Amino acid sequence: MKLLVVGSGGREHALAWKLAQSARVQIVYVAPGNGGTAQDARLRNVDITDLDALADFAEKEQIALTVVGPEAPLAAGIVNLFRGRGLKVFGPTKEAAQLESSKDFAKAFMKRHGIPSAEYETFFDAAAAHAYLDRQGAPIVIKADGLAAGKGVVVAATLDEAHAAVDMMLADNKLGDAGARVVIEAFLEGEEASFIVMVDGKHVLPLASSQDHKRLSDGDAGPNTGGMGAYSPAPIVTPQLHARVMREIILPTVRGMEKEGIRYTGFLYAGLMIDAQGNPKTLEFNCRMGDPETQPIMARLKGDFSKVIEQAIAGTLDTVELTWDRRTALGVVLAAHGYPDAPRKGDRINGIPAETEHAVTFHAGTTLAGGKLVTSGGRVLCVVGLADSVRGAQSAAYDTVNQISFDGMQYRRDIGYRAVSRKH
Ligand code: AMP
Ligand code: GLY
Repeated sequence: MKLLVVGSGGREHALAWKLAQSARVQIVYVAPGNGGTAQDARLRNVDITDLDALADFAEKEQIALTVVGPEAPLAAGIVNLFRGRGLKVFGPTKEAAQLESSKDFAKAFMKRHGIPSAEYETFFDAAAAHAYLDRQGAPIVIKADGLAAGKGVVVAATLDEAHAAVDMMLADNKLGDAGARVVIEAFLEGEEASFIVMVDGKHVLPLASSQDHKRLSDGDAGPNTGGMGAYSPAPIVTPQLHARVMREIILPTVRGMEKEGIRYTGFLYAGLMIDAQGNPKTLEFNCRMGDPETQPIMARLKGDFSKVIEQAIAGTLDTVELTWDRRTALGVVLAAHGYPDAPRKGDRINGIPAETEHAVTFHAGTTLAGGKLVTSGGRVLCVVGLADSVRGAQSAAYDTVNQISFDGMQYRRDIGYRAVSRKH
């Protein structure tokens, strides 16, 4: 069978890499893909991003299953379009994707269904938002309602920063329509974890737990990024916490969507904040897998993932049991010069070693220029190491990182530090 993965990041490389391991899969097309998916003999890049053209391609090539990586095509209705044309696709409809594409939708939904999350209010009007900030005080969190490519959340330590964020979004329209409405919510303290499940409309299949590192620099310093590294499993997600998150957050979300007439299908990612007493609250929903969480998660997943996707599309996820490599997988993101503000493109990448049982390198912002691999985006590579301990997985990943070079390469040297301190 032929499969299609939509997207071009490290998440999509990892999804395609895993799907291509199935003996029944001839080829996985990746649209548009990157320099890494271009080099893998089992994967083939397709230079299409227009949704109608993608549906034409899927029809013409008789694609058996399509998996959508990023939020933008989901929010634009790729699943509605493919289904309407009788094409098998895994992801949420445009309506269901509002859990990610509108923070106000997600917050109001959580309130209606009693799903734990920070207190909030939504504003269109800058003066009313400023007055609310003055009543609430800092720290406080300001979020653009719409998709803003990671620039829509300001965690304000002071009231000055909070007022500036409101002005940026509501008065100066710096984020366009995405920031025309803002959610202002209480600042939550604790440790974050990523809780990702697959949903077929009714049944929920949890994936292995993971934890991301959002800040650019060691010790969680520096600006927010799309994610500088991730590992799986995340020891903070104990079996007890797992059960609570399923009971208090995930299942009420899936049931609530069903009750409201918006059946949820696809990956569902709850970003959690876990307080010192171990109570989870929902920071956000994403209607897709995480990047870079997908890279270590796929590195640990055993079995034929194409069959799991098939069951998910058929609505029979209740019959699926996933098996995981018992090792820890730990992914280190190598970012370009200038990331996250103004990543430089065109730097020549050297030294990526071949995949082994202990390490695999997924590509994101890479492209082949005249047969040479060069940087083409902010997050360039994600090097995943696997070992029996978190420290061992760190060694496996960083031993590989040390072989790779490009001008301006930036990376964190402490990926996994929370898991290391938790275990000792
Ligand atoms: P989001 O896109 O909503 O996940 O926000 C991006 C990041 O901002 C999260 O990963 C958190 O680190 C931080 N954040 C979001 N909401 C809150 C909150 N209510 N309290 C503290 N930090 C938050
Ligand atoms: N790693 C965070 C995200 O994918 O949103």
